[in-house]
Amino acid sequence: MTTAFAPDLDAASAANPLHPSRRIEIRAFDGPLGAEVLGLDLDEPLSDDDFARIHRAHLDHHVLVFRDQRITPDQQIAFSRRFGPLQIHVLHQFQLPGYPEVLVVSNIVENGKPIGLGDAGHYWHSDLSYKDKPSLGSLLHAQELPAEGGDTLFANMHLAWDTLPAHLRSAVEGRFAEHTYLAKYAELQKRSPWRPNLSAEQIAQVKPVVQPIVRTHPETGRRALFVSEHFTTRIIGLPEDESAALLAAIFAHSVRPEHLYRHRWSAHDMVFWDNRSLMHLAAGTPDHLRRKLYRTTIEGDVPF
Ligand code: SIN
Repeated sequence: MTTAFAPDLDAASAANPLHPSRRIEIRAFDGPLGAEVLGLDLDEPLSDDDFARIHRAHLDHHVLVFRDQRITPDQQIAFSRRFGPLQIHVLHQFQLPGYPEVLVVSNIVENGKPIGLGDAGHYWHSDLSYKDKPSLGSLLHAQELPAEGGDTLFANMHLAWDTLPAHLRSAVEGRFAEHTYLAKYAELQKRSPWRPNLSAEQIAQVKPVVQPIVRTHPETGRRALFVSEHFTTRIIGLPEDESAALLAAIFAHSVRPEHLYRHRWSAHDMVFWDNRSLMHLAAGTPDHLRRKLYRTTIEGDVPF
């Protein structure tokens, strides 16, 4: 697990027709996923050519890091929308006021009230896998960062599938699993101030869904494991103990260190990841330090 750059092995650059002096460069990290995008300011409209390069890089590297982006929520929304319609998180309590598409991810409590979802990402997950149409990708923009901690980890689920031992592959191939938003909700609620009681309307929005355990990426055709510690509750058609043991083995394999990238946040970073290829985890922030990020989430396809 590393953040070092590969020596231009996977680098690419091209002149930008809207800004001829500017060249976008994609620098792959020396690791199982991730790349940094240089030469692009997200406060400017994205040309079709730049969009195509970012889109390709997103498919190839699964996590893209854009450094020092001093952008507004409107600009984050506009950039995110280039990739698809945005999803509104069920916890409307933590929407950025005036911006329903932006979920505030924060451990900050003001006047006794949390301003955001402080334990988002406490367990490994792929965003909104509990919806019929889970998220294509998510974008997190750093607003306020702690002096220590607060990293985000990403696991490459294509690699996890490719390297899954044969007996586990044959045990899950062609099978389906249930995903539900409520799987860990009561447990999280017991020990955090960030989990409000859900209304009947909110509960109705997050009915359990069934997803393939191995999904095919709709754009690259690559296969990936699609189960998570946070939202997957059981494998359909297996006895409870067998299902639990198999899921535990797959979870453990998925997050082996050689599948991971750890993002150490810098001021104004924007990180854009592919939920069809990855799981992610918030590594945790010391209680006394403040952390705030804005998240937008792009709707994807029905997994197959
Ligand atoms: C998330 O799961 O969307 C939040 C991840 C983080 O806070 O690092």
